[in-house]
Amino acid sequence: MNNQSRPRKVHIKSFGCQMNVYDSHRMADTLAPAGYAETAHAAEADLVILNTCHIREKAVDKVYSEIGRIREMKEAAAAQGRDMLIAVAGCVAQAEGKEIARRPGVDLVVGSQNYHRLPELIARARPGEKIVDTEFPVDDKFDALAAPAAEAIRSRGISAFVTVQEGCDKFCTFCVVPYTRGVEVSRPVEKIAAEVTRLAQAGVREVTLIGQNVNAYHGADRDGLPTTLDKLMRRLARVPGILRLRYTTNHPRDMNDELIAAHGDLDALMPCVHLPVQSGSDRMLAAMNRKHSRAEYLEIIARLRATRADLALSSDFIVGFPGETDNDFRDTLSLVEEVGYAGAYTFAYSPRPGTPAAELDGQIPEPLKIARLHELQALIARQQRDFNAAFLGRTVDVLLEKPGKFPGQLVGRTPYLQAVQVMAPRALIGSVLPVTINQIGTNTLFGELPERAGARVLAAAGA
Ligand code: SAH
Ligand code: SF4
Ligand code: F3S
Repeated sequence: MNNQSRPRKVHIKSFGCQMNVYDSHRMADTLAPAGYAETAHAAEADLVILNTCHIREKAVDKVYSEIGRIREMKEAAAAQGRDMLIAVAGCVAQAEGKEIARRPGVDLVVGSQNYHRLPELIARARPGEKIVDTEFPVDDKFDALAAPAAEAIRSRGISAFVTVQEGCDKFCTFCVVPYTRGVEVSRPVEKIAAEVTRLAQAGVREVTLIGQNVNAYHGADRDGLPTTLDKLMRRLARVPGILRLRYTTNHPRDMNDELIAAHGDLDALMPCVHLPVQSGSDRMLAAMNRKHSRAEYLEIIARLRATRADLALSSDFIVGFPGETDNDFRDTLSLVEEVGYAGAYTFAYSPRPGTPAAELDGQIPEPLKIARLHELQALIARQQRDFNAAFLGRTVDVLLEKPGKFPGQLVGRTPYLQAVQVMAPRALIGSVLPVTINQIGTNTLFGELPERAGARVLAAAGA
């Protein structure tokens, strides 16, 4: 069904977390040698891949409605005598592969650990025949994936995600990830270093190491012995061109002393920690199987802040977990007050099929969940505003990333991931420069480049 003689187009749409964004890039890289160029327009694609998320019911609903929308495009293409293949990948494919395959229009279902086989599966695809590949394979998908071309890296910008750890063995009672991503696996240090070197050579300056529980990283070092995330980052900080390192997301139980210490002495490591806590109530934490208490979480935060006073913290919260009383919810609010976050992701509990919490008594009515969610969000929005407002008049290091909306403007990020708009020449993209913040917007800061610093770097760049 695939016409080998003309260049083919693939459209990949990502849902869910940053690991899916990374996977989508790797799918594109792996399909490039098979003759597929990426397109931003699904309607003109020969192959549409939906890289899906299963974490909450709403995420799954989106996937099914998107399948319907793409199927209409496929029918329109067929009316013009053109084939369109629809592949569903990622966590919904992994969890509900058979159900997805039954949907009209879907040709291919590929699980989150199998997408390195995409070229072969696509070559096998025939109209009207469904292919489902969702077994957890024994081979390492990372070894089988094609490396990105320098041009592809450049088109994705100077800040890149790299998956270093996948899967989860923690089995929080609300969560599908251990079922959709499998057990915790870490990639070896030198393979990650080779990937980061390749990224840096193509212009990447900031790398965010990602994993479902990235601080549980235990990949093999040069001698084949399990190592830790801080040591991996110390290795990556030596890669020429890499200016900034970040990591996300974390579980409090894996926040070890060495990782905390790295925040004190590893210059490339940015002063941000995303440490999901989910709830401030010990009763809820136990029911969620988080395996730590409120006091233990606060103790980790205190140790982090003792290592680096200017650290910014963010977190994830779930409200309306089964059995959550008003007092439990007040405990969450008081924990937020106590910590003081730079930002957080907040979610209303969504019962997920196959997870223990979905079977618990005491499910909370939707309107109550939403009322709690809004109260928590208002508190966090206030903290985020205060955090940003404190930057007015300060001079901070900004990594200049890309052109802004207006001519002559660049957009960059502070160490705390705040977006900053600044008038600066394009030649400075990829540099870290001090910027004086002179205005605080809702979603962005505005700043000025001290003239001398700009001139100095331009001279050094030979511009
Ligand atoms: N491994 C990370 C989280 C990965 S999932 C950790 O342990 O913190 C990302 C976030 O989605 C979770 O932190 C949680 O806040 C939210 N989440 C997961 N399952 C959910 C559910 N069933 N309902 C609502 N939110 C959920
Ligand atoms: Fe899900 Fe818990 Fe694992 Fe995080 S630690 S991915 S919330 S099971
Ligand atoms: Fe969603 Fe899968 Fe990520 S369930 S949050 S895409 S690991």
